[in-house]
Amino acid sequence: MEIRWLGHSAFEIKTKNKILLLDPALKINPNSSCKPKDIKKADYILISHGHYDHLGDSIELAKKTKAKIIAIVELAVYCQGKGVKDAAMLNICSPMDFQGIKIGLVPAAHSGGIGLEDGKAVYSGNPVGFIIQSEGKTVYFAGDTGLCADLKMIGEVYKPDIAMLPISGSFTMDPKEAAIAASWIKPKVVIPMHYNSLPSLPKVNVNELIKGVKKRSPKTRCIILKPGDMYRC
Ligand code: NI
Ligand code: MN
Repeated sequence: MEIRWLGHSAFEIKTKNKILLLDPALKINPNSSCKPKDIKKADYILISHGHYDHLGDSIELAKKTKAKIIAIVELAVYCQGKGVKDAAMLNICSPMDFQGIKIGLVPAAHSGGIGLEDGKAVYSGNPVGFIIQSEGKTVYFAGDTGLCADLKMIGEVYKPDIAMLPISGSFTMDPKEAAIAASWIKPKVVIPMHYNSLPSLPKVNVNELIKGVKKRSPKTRCIILKPGDMYRC
C-alpha cells in the first residue's frame, strides 16, 4: 500500500489495483502537491465532512474519474444532487467491502456544513473518520476531530497500523492532544495532517507531536511527510 500526502487533509492511497482519494481539497491549498487537473485516475473518493477544505474538489474529480464517492448519507446525497453518478450513502458503520477494500465510517468530534465560507450552512450530516482495511493493513484517517473518547474505541476495536491525525489546533486537536490520541489508538505509525497548510490555520510546531508521542507511546513512530511525499507500508 502507498500513502501519498497531497497536502492539508488530502491523501492518495494506492493498493495493488485501486486508487483512493481522501478529502481531495487541492485548489484551495496553496501548498498542495498537485491540482485536480493532475489527477487522472481514482476508484473511490472518501469525504470526511462538508467543510470546504475537505469536500474540496471531490465532485469535480468524481465526475472526471468516474470514482465512487464514499461519504455519510447526507453528504453523498448532496454530491449526487450536484451531478455525481456513483455515491455510496453510508452512516457510521463497520467496514464494508468495496472490491476487496474494506471501508467503514467512524465518529469524529467536529461539525458538518457546506458553504460556510459563503455565509451559508447546508446540512451535510455528521462528520466522520474512515477505517480502511486492505492488504493486511488497517489505516485510520481521522478527518477533522477534536480529542474525544471515541478515539479510545477506535484503537480498541480496529487496532490501526497507521493513523492520520489532524494537529492544527483551533478546528481540531493540537499536537499535544494528538500525542494523547496516539497513546489511545496505539498505531505503529502516526502521520500528522491538517497543519501549516491554509493561511487561516494557526502555525503549529510538529516537533511537539514528535516529542509527545515519544514520551507517551515510544512504540509509535511519527512519519512527517511533505506534500507530495509517499509512505509505503
Ligand atoms: Ni472541518
Ligand atoms: Mn478542516
